Amino acid sequence: MEQLRKGRRLILFPLPFQGHINPMLELANILHLKGFSITIIQTNYNSLNPSNHPHFTFHSIHIGLSKSGTSTKDPLLLLSRLNAKSREPFRECLAMLLSDVSKEPVACLITDSVYDFTQSVVESLKLPMILLRTGSASSFAIYAAFPLLREKGYLPKQDSRLEEEVTELSPLKVKDLPYINSDGPERFFKLIADLETQTMASHGLIFNTFEDLEEHTLATIRQDYCIPIFSLGPFHKCYPANSCSTSSSLLAQDQSCISWLNTQAQKSVIYVSFGSIAAIDKAQFLEIAWGLATSKQPFLWVVRPGLVPGSDWLEPLPSGFVETLNGKGHIVKWAPQKEVLAHQAVGVFWTHNGWNSTLESICEGVPMICMPCSSDQMMNARYVSDVWKVGLQLQHGFERGDIEKTIRKLMVEKQGKEIKDRVLKLMHKANFCLKQGGSSYQSLDALIKHILSFR
Ligand code: UDX
Repeated sequence: MEQLRKGRRLILFPLPFQGHINPMLELANILHLKGFSITIIQTNYNSLNPSNHPHFTFHSIHIGLSKSGTSTKDPLLLLSRLNAKSREPFRECLAMLLSDVSKEPVACLITDSVYDFTQSVVESLKLPMILLRTGSASSFAIYAAFPLLREKGYLPKQDSRLEEEVTELSPLKVKDLPYINSDGPERFFKLIADLETQTMASHGLIFNTFEDLEEHTLATIRQDYCIPIFSLGPFHKCYPANSCSTSSSLLAQDQSCISWLNTQAQKSVIYVSFGSIAAIDKAQFLEIAWGLATSKQPFLWVVRPGLVPGSDWLEPLPSGFVETLNGKGHIVKWAPQKEVLAHQAVGVFWTHNGWNSTLESICEGVPMICMPCSSDQMMNARYVSDVWKVGLQLQHGFERGDIEKTIRKLMVEKQGKEIKDRVLKLMHKANFCLKQGGSSYQSLDALIKHILSFR
């Protein structure tokens, strides 16, 4: 039952990428259910359709960044353009919202932690700001350790040291560190340092994770930062599936996935998806296709347009490939992923280990095949395979024989059974933490009290 409105408005500002929009909108749903009125400021780049979220008020800012004129190939360049172009329109929009006395008073801004200018804007407007970190707590902790990693020579990464273990962050290897090198390392290091300063100056930090998953890291973060830290995740499980869960998907989700899954045996299907940004080349795409075909397991494969740069969709597949599958494979452009992972036919998730995908898989007790592509995905994958031990990494990257072998290990062999048992245990812990008295439940209560304490 929805609680009475609290007479306070929260302004939320998501970063306009799918992996960041989803958790911010989920958080908005949670806080709305808890009685806050929600205003979303969104950019005209990757904007959501407000009519899918009639319980929120939307304001769009025009930032002069078009999809055709931007590429996700250089994420740092894209991010710095986004930050530079959003600053002034955001400041104007926020000032306008704060001066509107016809609405409930605004308690605070909740913004994605990757914007680098929001602290200076809220300071000038005297508004408290809480940050949402959409990645894992562990990846946040690693960014905080960057000065040490540079001092020890782990960063910038050198090819000769990629397989070396980072002893201070075991079991991570140098190759797992979340590091983006575009035109030299300094731009990335500066971004990370700026975000660190902004975090320190904020009124709190929210993580989409749960204590049982990252207890040790969360404790360390709480020790190192003198701001309140809230771990409320997994967000998407915090509210009933049929309540406020209208899609925040930027692409249309192909519902044929569900009717196809309905025809498959229990736990038999490999679900394959590499999120909203990852790109692979044609040779890698073909190895995946042949690895799946020769595994003889049924599969549901999301081939997002743009996954193979230069191709519209399935053209790189040899002609007749789809026919040879004999109905064993179903290929779509975009899936209703949470529904898919919750379907009883899905037995394994072959993922790029974006944080949302990793968490969504754990929440449904689905073991993973890890194929990280960039940024925090490598370390998420290392945690999945070596810390929580709920998945396997492909040992030889994109190689059809290795793919087939890894699928067999997970689906058929004893090792797979042990991995399944462990992920089911984590799934139960994820559900438990949301129940009354559970860690995320308590953290949400603490967040609400914290917000209500702002004058
Ligand atoms: C990016 C980064 O890759 C990730 O590492 C970071 O933590 C967040 O930003 P993305 O690559 O899109 O995100 O991956 P992920 O974090 O997994 O988010 C993808 C979201 O899209 C998930 O919530 C998933 O449910 C959804 N999705 C994906 C669909 O709805 N349909 C699909 O077919 C595929």
